[in-house]
Amino acid sequence: MAVDWDQLREAAGDAMERAYAPYSGYRVGAAALAEDGRLVAGCNVENAGYGVTLCAECGLVSQLHLTGGGHLTHFVCVNGEREVIMPCGRCRQLLSENGTRDLQLLTPEGLRSIDEVLPQAFGPADLQH
Ligand code: THU
Repeated sequence: MAVDWDQLREAAGDAMERAYAPYSGYRVGAAALAEDGRLVAGCNVENAGYGVTLCAECGLVSQLHLTGGGHLTHFVCVNGEREVIMPCGRCRQLLSENGTRDLQLLTPEGLRSIDEVLPQAFGPADLQH
């Protein structure tokens, strides 16, 4: 089934409107589809203890588990202007563990797989050694 990236991007934009980013002023929204077609989303939530800040992807992954688990198949995140941005390094790691092997991301340079944006990822299998 073809994925409606415009709709997913719009959902990320709507999530961005709920961001709490009084310190950086940089609002982020993220949206993704799970294997069963479920749409999950998140916004960044900053904190006076700057390092405690939650990226938009944190809320998104929490919603994935809260609403039944599974893995992400398609992902996009946007800034306050609703422009597509790249997830930060830490969140690529989050997406890697919570995505399918062929998770697709809409990036400023087009569609990319999780392997392309996080090559040689450290993951659960590494803990078996
Ligand atoms: N941010 C995200 O929410 N996700 C990312 O992938 C990149 C960065 C947020 C964290 C912080 O609230 C703000 O953007 C500036 O770094």
